[in-house]
Amino acid sequence: RLDSLLLERQEQSEFEITDRTLTAIGLVPTMGALHQGHLSLIERARQENAVVIVSIFVNPLQFGPNEDYQRYPRTLDQDRQLCEQAGVDAIFAPTPEEMGVDLKNLQELKVTQVIPPSAMISGLCGRSRLGHFQGVATIVTKLFNLVQPDRAYFGQKDGQQLAIIRRLVADLNFAIEIVGCPTVREASGLALSSRNQYLTATEKQQATMLYRGLQKAATKFHAGERHTKALISIVQQELALASSLSVEYIELVEPTTLMPLGIIEEEGMIAIAARLGSTRLIDNMILRDR
Ligand code: PAJ
Repeated sequence: RLDSLLLERQEQSEFEITDRTLTAIGLVPTMGALHQGHLSLIERARQENAVVIVSIFVNPLQFGPNEDYQRYPRTLDQDRQLCEQAGVDAIFAPTPEEMGVDLKNLQELKVTQVIPPSAMISGLCGRSRLGHFQGVATIVTKLFNLVQPDRAYFGQKDGQQLAIIRRLVADLNFAIEIVGCPTVREASGLALSSRNQYLTATEKQQATMLYRGLQKAATKFHAGERHTKALISIVQQELALASSLSVEYIELVEPTTLMPLGIIEEEGMIAIAARLGSTRLIDNMILRDR
């Protein structure tokens, strides 16, 4: 299927196939329920590759026992339409069986798993989501081996995931370029997420405080504040204004290694996780001198 797609594209192309970009395969891994955030990754992949593949797989390995695996939105027909409109060449939407994932085998250590460095999974979301990044790293490794892309696209929205995947590719010698893409937001500043559809109208309003908090910290950073404590307390003050928001963490880390920072020397990532009712939201911002 891929070979014929490539041939088709080569025949359509006015150019000689000498450039690697003209034969390259770009992969956009997703869990479906596609929105503009996902589509921005797809658009970028479309610009840079001859073939664009979107994977859609709600990965049971990355959901904890009390998380939303069952209720996670599944909208395959709509996703298919959006992919078609965006010029995607192929969708890879395997079943858990086809993907060879079985939670029981994993828990009983009957299958190989990919475990990111503990320093990268002990903080931020790793603190409350035990096993989550193992599940992500394992499934992304399987997707990389199945699709064998030249490039793979990930959003800065999940900053910890992006850093972990860059590390995984370096450590396991994947010949894949990881392309990080900026967070797409609503006009209100709320970062787009498949989980936003769980929010009521009032919750959605309160959810915009996450970005407002990050923006306030960024303003202070650009005015010269470099101390983590001061920057975090600005976000805390802002989030305290949203009465139904329950903050899980506000942390400031080095964006590549995810090591906690006391002071920002070059750049930092300030990241938040918070709950609104039963919905867990995350957001982050990179702080660096312009
Ligand atoms: P999912 O949450 O579907 O996200 C797929 C990709 O879209 C991720 O790289 C994510 O960072 C990116 N994304 C989500 N919202 C975004 C936004 N508002 N702006 C920009 N990019 C955004 O992340 C996963 O799936 C899974 O963990 C996966 C990598 C597919 C492994 O199962």
